[in-house]
Amino acid sequence: HRKYVPFTPIHRPQRRWPDQVITESPRWCAVDLRDGNQALVKPMTVAQKTVLFQLLVDVGFKEIEVGFPAASQPDYDFVRKLIEENLVPDDVTIQVLTQAREELIARSFEALKGARKANVHLYNSTSRVQREKVFRLDVDGIKAIAVAGAEALVRHAQANPATEWVFQYSPESFTGTELEVAAEVTNAVIDVWQPQNGQEVVINLPATVEMSTPNVFADMVEWMGEHLHHREHLCISVHTHNDRGCGVAAAELAVMGGADRVEGTLMGNGERTGNMDIVTMAMNLYSQGVDPLLDLSDVKRIAETVESVTEISTHPRHPYVGELVFTAFSGSHQDAIRKCLSTYSEGDKWEIAYLPIDPRDLGRRYEEVVRINSQSGKGGVLYVLERDFGITLPRWLQIEFSRVVQGFAENEEREVQTDEIHGLFERHFLSV
Ligand code: KIV
Ligand code: ZN
Repeated sequence: HRKYVPFTPIHRPQRRWPDQVITESPRWCAVDLRDGNQALVKPMTVAQKTVLFQLLVDVGFKEIEVGFPAASQPDYDFVRKLIEENLVPDDVTIQVLTQAREELIARSFEALKGARKANVHLYNSTSRVQREKVFRLDVDGIKAIAVAGAEALVRHAQANPATEWVFQYSPESFTGTELEVAAEVTNAVIDVWQPQNGQEVVINLPATVEMSTPNVFADMVEWMGEHLHHREHLCISVHTHNDRGCGVAAAELAVMGGADRVEGTLMGNGERTGNMDIVTMAMNLYSQGVDPLLDLSDVKRIAETVESVTEISTHPRHPYVGELVFTAFSGSHQDAIRKCLSTYSEGDKWEIAYLPIDPRDLGRRYEEVVRINSQSGKGGVLYVLERDFGITLPRWLQIEFSRVVQGFAENEEREVQTDEIHGLFERHFLSV
């Protein structure tokens, strides 16, 4: 049928990324306060943004996109508050988004007056669909918008020399842009900014809409790295969305394809299906022995704060964070976990069946791991008895007692709490 057409794979016999593993953390930029915020039913207030900013700082983000001040008064007020109340730590760079229009750029620089260091993130759409149907411009027309924006950044930065400026450009809708066009427009911007003269330049390649499998996106990123001017002086960043459910995978493969930096949000809040989830990618790295340089040791605080400012609840199966992701109800899983944990000591290599990482590394407790319902077998019941009450049953009583608990769960049609298991134990074995 003709309504949807397959994406075009890129013919790249020399591609390098399939042989890579990620051996060090990329730079992260948290865009919760901009991309995340602009997708909310109720955008955050200045007070809520301040709470989330503090969380992002505490987690260890060194680059934080704080808003789109030329497009929203609360965003403008928030940027002013950060600067005037001196809320930005010395090692943190704030970033603001702006379209490539003189009056919006001027307003963005006005918002940033007095900042110690700031990234001005310029974007315009480059995809074929947007060129033809939205802007009705050819490639030269789109390039002229980007170049005029880039030149305006240089002018405003020169007029405000007290701030250390970082320039960032996104060919928005990159995933719908022919690679030659994306490179031509981006190179025109790079030529204005002259990164080889010491200007810090970030080129951010967004999967504004995720339109292909992650391998195709990684090929696109690798190809751009080979075709951008002054690659060695650029920071190549990716900014993936999750329309096909692969935002994290696309960012991971893009890093293998040469990206230095990843933009995303805590737990993936963002436009439509969300931005890529930095918590998931960071913990994926962590589980491979790579330090993500983010402190995720109190994931409960992270989830609660994000939930309170976004008013979006966390799915119980959300990777690493959801209530149920380290829980086993089924008997065989419980038995395997119990056996592995019984021989595990602090400092050992983590080799616990069904638990890809130690829940305690996220501030979670082993108590969450084994929970009992009608699917649970003797392993789980024994584990709870031992763990919570120090009771060990002889082999010949184990099956008998697990049947008692299972019968109770079947009758009640719900989870059985640990004190109920103890009650059943007392009633079954101790009552006369
Ligand atoms: O998704 C996107 O393309 C964006 C850009 C503004 C970077 O959010
Ligand atoms: Zn985005």
